[in-house]
Amino acid sequence: MSPTIPAPNEPGADTPTCIIRQTHLTDLPVFQDIFDPSRPVEVDIGCGKGRFLLARAAAHPDIQYLGIERLLLRVRKIDRKAQRGGLGNLRLIRLEAAYTLQYFIPEHAVRRFFLFFPDPWPKRRHHKRRLFDEAFRTLLWTRLVPGGEIQVATDHLDYFGEMQRQLDGDPRFEAVPAMERAPEEQTDFELIFRGQGLPIGAGGYRARPAGGL
Ligand SMILES: C[S@@+](CC[C@H](N)C(=O)[O-])C[C@H]1O[C@@H](n2cnc3c(N)ncnc32)[C@H](O)[C@@H]1O
Repeated sequence: MSPTIPAPNEPGADTPTCIIRQTHLTDLPVFQDIFDPSRPVEVDIGCGKGRFLLARAAAHPDIQYLGIERLLLRVRKIDRKAQRGGLGNLRLIRLEAAYTLQYFIPEHAVRRFFLFFPDPWPKRRHHKRRLFDEAFRTLLWTRLVPGGEIQVATDHLDYFGEMQRQLDGDPRFEAVPAMERAPEEQTDFELIFRGQGLPIGAGGYRARPAGGL
């Protein structure tokens, strides 16, 4: 795959942006050069069109936010809104989520991950395409600070049950309540599903220090 975000020496590189510049997939910038280690980092995985992320970043200027999203048009749309809103605490990366956790985010760097309405891949033969699996769980745990949290929500109750089953059976995590979110922090997909009257599964899990062992 070729790089799609202009590098610092390419045309368009002078435009103010919160999109993290990538020269190449295998030459990612250093996380600690972008995020101040003295302030918490929260990460929205598959942030979509960014309704939740933008509202959250505006409400918590003391927290640093990272949105991970593979679709460039969505990333650019969020970026434009972030520029208009003057959100200096928001960064976006246009990259595959598991790859981002593995190769960009260092261990014990994130206070909270949000996984809201991940693609459910409803057909059984497509379940292997789901983001959430054992390897992803390990990535989440290793990237969280001890005591850090994952918050998940989805309209797909089968997928929600599967995530719960995996997390409940993993001694590195313990269940905590789903976070309270203000109406403006409902995600774009959530608004659609709630508008259709669909039930939403939501929950939280805390990373136990040293894997709970
Ligand atoms: C169903 S949408 C939900 C978006 C948003 N969280 C919301 O609730 O409105 C899932 C989003 O995750 C992105 N996505 C899916 N798999 C991804 C992956 N492996 N890496 C990065 N982004 C991904 C999709 O492009 C899409 O924007």
